[in-house]
Amino acid sequence: MLNYIKYILVLGVLFSTMAIQAQNNSSKFSDADIEALIDKMTIEEKAGQMTQVTIDMILKEESSTEIDEEKLRFAIKDMQVGSILNVKWHAYDLKTWDKVLTAIQDVATKETRLSVPILYGIDAIHGANYTQNSTLFPHNIGMAAARDRALVKEGAAITAKEVRASGHRWNFDPTLGVGRQPLWSRFEETFGEDTYLASEMGAEVIKGYEEKGLDHHEAVASCMKHFIGYSNPRSGKDRTPAYMTDRELREHYLPTFQAAVDAGTSTVMINSGELDGMPVHASKYLLTDVLRGELGFKGMVVSDWEDVIRLKLRAHIAETHKEAVRLAVEAGLDMSMVPLDYSFRNHLIELVKEGSISEERLDQSVRRILVLKRNLGLFDNPYTEEEARKNFNLPNYTEVALTAAQHSMTLLKNEDNVLPLKEGQKILLAGPAANEFTCLHSSWSFNWQGDGAEYYPKGTETIYDAMKERFGADNVSCASTNKFEDAKNTDVAQLNKMATDADVIVLCLGEKAYAESPGVINDLMLDKEQLDLAEAAIATGKTVIYVMVQGRPRVISTIEAGAKGILQAYRPSSRGADAIVSVLSGDFNPSGKLPFTYHRNTGDIVLYDHKFAETFTELAPGEIGGSGFNPQWQFGHGLSYTSFDYGKMQVDKTTFSGEEKVTVTVNVTNTGDRDGHHAVELYSRDDYASVSPCVKRLRAFDKKMIKAGATETFSFTIDADDLSFINFDSKRVTEKGTFKLFIDDQWTSIRYE
Ligand code: BGC
Repeated sequence: MLNYIKYILVLGVLFSTMAIQAQNNSSKFSDADIEALIDKMTIEEKAGQMTQVTIDMILKEESSTEIDEEKLRFAIKDMQVGSILNVKWHAYDLKTWDKVLTAIQDVATKETRLSVPILYGIDAIHGANYTQNSTLFPHNIGMAAARDRALVKEGAAITAKEVRASGHRWNFDPTLGVGRQPLWSRFEETFGEDTYLASEMGAEVIKGYEEKGLDHHEAVASCMKHFIGYSNPRSGKDRTPAYMTDRELREHYLPTFQAAVDAGTSTVMINSGELDGMPVHASKYLLTDVLRGELGFKGMVVSDWEDVIRLKLRAHIAETHKEAVRLAVEAGLDMSMVPLDYSFRNHLIELVKEGSISEERLDQSVRRILVLKRNLGLFDNPYTEEEARKNFNLPNYTEVALTAAQHSMTLLKNEDNVLPLKEGQKILLAGPAANEFTCLHSSWSFNWQGDGAEYYPKGTETIYDAMKERFGADNVSCASTNKFEDAKNTDVAQLNKMATDADVIVLCLGEKAYAESPGVINDLMLDKEQLDLAEAAIATGKTVIYVMVQGRPRVISTIEAGAKGILQAYRPSSRGADAIVSVLSGDFNPSGKLPFTYHRNTGDIVLYDHKFAETFTELAPGEIGGSGFNPQWQFGHGLSYTSFDYGKMQVDKTTFSGEEKVTVTVNVTNTGDRDGHHAVELYSRDDYASVSPCVKRLRAFDKKMIKAGATETFSFTIDADDLSFINFDSKRVTEKGTFKLFIDDQWTSIRYE
């Protein structure tokens, strides 16, 4: 009887997984074929499918692209690996990808017993960054500032085309950790500090990658990452522990992943770090109960780099590597990015043979992997598809990259309308970001760190290049070299000398290119050399403007007052220099809005959706003082060259209950003399709740072009769910009572009965 029940349960799980994953798929390889294949597989072949190694494992020692035939056959024929990832050192051209991938699939499909194709995984984080001459879009932090869902989706769809044209069908993107720790070196990969904004944008990325169906030559499988809690390490350092309650996790970090599951993501990558002392790679609660049970995820789970091994090496929760493998597989891992040896596979085989892991458990994972391969069309044609090749580097891609970068530009300050720059002004460019383009792109740009200028497309422009083109070489001088960290870039004496002829000094400040842990900093304050340079520029008495090229909000409170104009440019990428210059010149009217709180002090990291009590300072019993909430700039801040007037905010009802919806409407008029895009945001506050409420939370946003003199209506519909929160039982609830709704500087009250 027990066996019978088990059989029914297994069948149930199997069919529900397949029914969902096989949707809209044209592959000739059926569900029955997958089952037949699993039946034929040995334990070794199954463990191999669950193993992913990096490309170094099949390349000649000192070569970045040349296949070592012996190593290749060892990996695929002897070790039976199911997946390979990555590049060695830098992006490859299309021909090289073709050569490498053809060699891999030839061995997998023609020289192995079961002819299972290899699933190749690649990081294409803001474009097909590991293929030479691809188009790179602003990093997510800038895309979030653009507040434009369609643009985010369009960028992702182009990325999918270029990735597939390169022969890849699985992209380790998007990053869905919410950026609530500004020190974190992967902040630029996030959509900023707000959970709703990040959920909306993340879902658009998934749709852009997958909506056409995985077997379509313009789609790729997405990989939501890193599940979960990676983005808020307590120390701010990359891959270090996070401490958050289950409630906090569900309030701020889980919704982005839920939105991605709902949008149809196929795979997930696990957070390398630990939550409350539990490394996520070993957490059955998170990887099975929450991810599959609650979020309803049906796809495939891959580890991050070496993270199974690190359960022993770093987390010290497993005494041996073998025990680490057991913990991770039992927790819910389907594929291990091992990636530099075959230990995972070998330990897994031992574990199954000795009975510590059941073969059925392997079948579950292998089934998910094979279903993904089938859905991607790999069983029908594992090679780069001819139709896909045509989609590389099409002329409109860079136009979209320019539009995206322009929409991300966030004008933080514009005293006395110092911007746009006036024609004929003598402009001095200075600072480390003025004449260097890798900082405009940063992580995951033609190499991992994005710092290899030699791998970028010929003609990639610096801000200086674009300024000369726009204002004429006679009007623009530059004090900077093409190395971000060159001491000359912060040479005060040189700046003083060159400034004598200038009307305006444009200081291009910020951060060099970096990715992951090499981007760790100990201080959110901008580097001293750059602060000194800014002080010197201010002391010249000339008009000073800052362009901030950075992945996170580096504190500039000591030099803020001295600048008349400040433009936040994030990591605008391929067309970044043009986008920056189009805003400085006024050719493009900026409309970006900060997707994070721009902090004023490194010791005052209070987010926009803080609790009331976070901004009180009790000076003496009963005496409240302090500076309150006092960031440099608020989440949502961003100026335009035109002005917008808000009409009265209207709600269609002031009391609602059950499933009822409330519609909030506002008219916005462009009262200036130039056209401009404008994003309107709706926030809410729960006046009293059983968990102390946030002072406000973003609930809806929309962006429209408003012509000079024209009025546009923005309308938002919200329901009780939009006003919900996670209570102390870890349940999402909306409690009865009054709520405030905010648009711009207006508010109104509504009551939920
Ligand atoms: C990163 C992942 C990435 C993986 C493969 C890891 O170091 O954390 O985001 O997908 O490497 O390159």
